Amino acid sequence: MAFPIHRMRRLRATEGLRRMVRETHLSTDDLVMPLFVRPGQGIDAPIASMPGQSQLSIDRLLHRCGQIHELGVPAVLLFGLPESKDEVGSSAWDDNGIVQQATRAIKKSLPELVVIADVCFCEYTDHGHCGVLSGSGAGRTVDNDATLVNLARQSVSLARAGVDIIAPSDMMDGRVGAIRRGLDEAGLADTPIMSYAAKYASGFYGPFRDAAESAPAFGDRRSYQMDPANGDEALREVALDVEEGADIVMVKPALAYLDIIRRVKETFRLPTAAYHVSGEYSMIKAAAERGWLDERRIVMETLTAIKRAGADILITYYAPEAAAWIEE
Ligand code: PBG
Repeated sequence: MAFPIHRMRRLRATEGLRRMVRETHLSTDDLVMPLFVRPGQGIDAPIASMPGQSQLSIDRLLHRCGQIHELGVPAVLLFGLPESKDEVGSSAWDDNGIVQQATRAIKKSLPELVVIADVCFCEYTDHGHCGVLSGSGAGRTVDNDATLVNLARQSVSLARAGVDIIAPSDMMDGRVGAIRRGLDEAGLADTPIMSYAAKYASGFYGPFRDAAESAPAFGDRRSYQMDPANGDEALREVALDVEEGADIVMVKPALAYLDIIRRVKETFRLPTAAYHVSGEYSMIKAAAERGWLDERRIVMETLTAIKRAGADILITYYAPEAAAWIEE
């Protein structure tokens, strides 16, 4: 051999050596578990497109939260399926709304479990869009500024119910500022905001819309969520949210947007969350059910990659499994 061979394989020879030079470590502390809560009693309604996930009534939600807490997962992210929907989504700011009730129940039985609430209207409006509509016919669109008022109302109601972190996912312009002002004026200056700052108009949300019964009745969300082709624009979105008062910023989805996670982390150095969304979960489930992929390996590889890209917080429907696998 005339040329020198650099022996990269030396440090890969045994698990002991690999452990010593491993750069990224998943921790149970990184995980957040999304959950769907609905009215009723004793209800655990499986979501067909997300095997292993269910819509839960509050009693069953408490049981699930107990398991999640027991596994060491620090936080849950709540989505509500309200009793009734209307044009503006008013049940979202009802102090007796489903997420408000669920939060009070969790805080009573598991006070240390961090409760994050998704703030948005698509689950609460009868048309499934993320805010108030204006215009008519083909010109119908989500009215940005009218929606801001309602987002602040929803956030104040949720924070008063005991939500630890407010997480707006609607993608209206100015929402973080409107929510921050609303919270501050209500004496809730200490409630943090985790903004879905770079949220893309993604096909990966497909199964979620079954889960949350929130598919838009007409059109799509491309007039408010980001174009998947854009990266620089994500930095502008995040910069605005930071300026308006976001404490934690999120990129969503995760795996197809690792470059965005990296750029956001390197640019802002803020606590950065990545949402491994419903479609990402269901793809792994479906392939694993067919025996095409090794579920555990793929989940750990995926979550490690998202963390390696720069995410500090991993929101994933696999949180309980990942927690158990990390501890093994
Ligand atoms: C609400 C919301 C959505 C998701 C989180 N919050 C759906 C959407 O924007 O259509 C998606 C989460 C997932 O797919 O797991 N706006």
